[in-house]
Amino acid sequence: MAAQHQPSSHPRSQGLRTDLDFSTDQLTALLELTEQVKQSRQRFASSLKGRYVALLFEKPSLRTRMTFELAIKQLGGDCVTQIGLIAEREPLADVARNLARWTDLIVARTFAQETVDELARWSGLPVINALSDLYHPCQALADVFTLKEHFGRLRGLKLAYVGDGNNVAHSLMLCCARLGMTVSVATPKGYGPNAEIVAKAREFGPIELTNDPAAAVKGAHAIYTDVWASMGQESEAEERKRVFGPYQVNEAFLAQARPDAIFMHCLPAKRGQEVTDAVVESAQSVVFDQAENRLHVQKAALLTLLQ
Ligand code: CP
Ligand code: NVA
Repeated sequence: MAAQHQPSSHPRSQGLRTDLDFSTDQLTALLELTEQVKQSRQRFASSLKGRYVALLFEKPSLRTRMTFELAIKQLGGDCVTQIGLIAEREPLADVARNLARWTDLIVARTFAQETVDELARWSGLPVINALSDLYHPCQALADVFTLKEHFGRLRGLKLAYVGDGNNVAHSLMLCCARLGMTVSVATPKGYGPNAEIVAKAREFGPIELTNDPAAAVKGAHAIYTDVWASMGQESEAEERKRVFGPYQVNEAFLAQARPDAIFMHCLPAKRGQEVTDAVVESAQSVVFDQAENRLHVQKAALLTLLQ
């Protein structure tokens, strides 16, 4: 009886709960696999035949939900999606142990990172973080893949992240630093990235923190921004609009970057706030390449974790 109430006794399968679940070698291999997957849908059309994935979303999504559902189906597998708080009707541990009986992998978008970690602990299944308050690893994978496609390399590139030190900033710092890039993060005072995650990323590569967007953008190959108020921070949106005003990525700001710099955004964008319409629509913008590449990197991640 007692064993029923313990976390899964299986050694926890590898997942993608944070950017650090994949070793740097696995990360490099995943980017190579992404290239293959992007080149030929046909070759991988039955790779996940008979495999089933549970998608759980506590927050809204367009890109992540669509690209996971499509990725799984295009690889020959299938999925079921639930929207709403994961542990509203019953304890998280029970949800996890139910899913473990029916499915092979969980993809979860959550508020607390702990929810992702506990799903993995109780289910014993691989769990992919589809965005939590702390990380967005699938986004960072698509972003580095997009950078590699555009520049033909990653090592030596500088990415300037301008805005809120949030989940997207955290995952970019961890992922880019491990691949030989420099990340410069410009935020207002009091809105910088999590200090522990900065320290972790600095074990891998240079992370510069500043309150001066002009300093961050100097010599940058990519200018990245994200919303000023993330999902769950809606009540702070008005205050944040005032604080973050000087951090808007507009044409004048983009002109301070290298002439060959690209503009990146995970989307959805609040045009007129963190970025202007002109910048999103400019020739330097790769935002829809990033969105497309979510599909391809997630296919590679699913293949890595399920094969
Ligand atoms: N970039 C991203 O994760 O988009 P969604 O919130 O639409 O999934
Ligand atoms: N930082 C944003 C990213 C959305 C894809 C949020 O968490 O809402």
